[in-house]
Amino acid sequence: MNQSYRKRAPLDPQSLARELEKRQSLWKNFDLEDELSSTNDFAKDLIKKEINEGHFVLTNFQSKGRGRQDRTWIAPKNSSLFISIILKSSTKDNLGWIPLMAGVALQKTLQTEMLVELKIKWPNDLVIVKNDEYFKCAGILMEKVNDYVIAGIGINFDQTKDELPIKESSSIQQYLNSDLSKEELIALFVSEFAALWHEESNAASWPTPSLVRQYKANCVTLGKEISALMPSGESIQGLAKDISVSGELVLDTLQGEVKLNSGQVHLKH
Ligand code: BTN
Repeated sequence: MNQSYRKRAPLDPQSLARELEKRQSLWKNFDLEDELSSTNDFAKDLIKKEINEGHFVLTNFQSKGRGRQDRTWIAPKNSSLFISIILKSSTKDNLGWIPLMAGVALQKTLQTEMLVELKIKWPNDLVIVKNDEYFKCAGILMEKVNDYVIAGIGINFDQTKDELPIKESSSIQQYLNSDLSKEELIALFVSEFAALWHEESNAASWPTPSLVRQYKANCVTLGKEISALMPSGESIQGLAKDISVSGELVLDTLQGEVKLNSGQVHLKH
């Protein structure tokens, strides 16, 4: 058995509860299961009962973890963070900004703890920037269920290189500026996201100029020539010039302006 695998501990619920309390997190209630098919599926079942906004689900292992665009999301047990947060969406106008907001909260949290530059690749992949190359270290999958949105967040914590699914990915532990625990990281992120969510929800309209600024200032996609693979299989090329009020990526293409609301984006160097 691999050494690093044996050293990995499962999440400790008491330690997490202490960390959430220490940070006065506005979201404190969670379910922690040792193994699940997907935290998003467990969250979907919770929604069938009455559940408070901000309740979140954690696990040490997912057997059927999902990524965006029907991709799988897998990691060895205890090596990665799997978080699904239940949000109420009924009164919110610009649902397209929820995935971007989660990206801002995660970028802000991780950047404070890391020695390397961290950016958001539209819509919400978190990438480590090294010598003009980008290594994905976290991803976010949003799923809408009736009046709820489930924000499913996966963070590569301490996978070794050969445990990561693709060459252009990375785990974060080797770049941390302290020996931050998984429980501390979850508490930091959840409390950051909760504060941002409340700020945006209480504003007259969202996205607020402050959220838009935070997103654009940290989005590595803007200003780049990109090619995007659409869910239809079609490929589209253009200059990423803006983010719309609905959270779409606005492209200048030879055919004119195109707004993307999904798609897998490749940055050209
Ligand atoms: C992506 O970048 O494609 C999104 C990945 C999202 C993965 C997370 S892990 C927790 C939650 N449960 C899932 O099955 N998926 C999300």
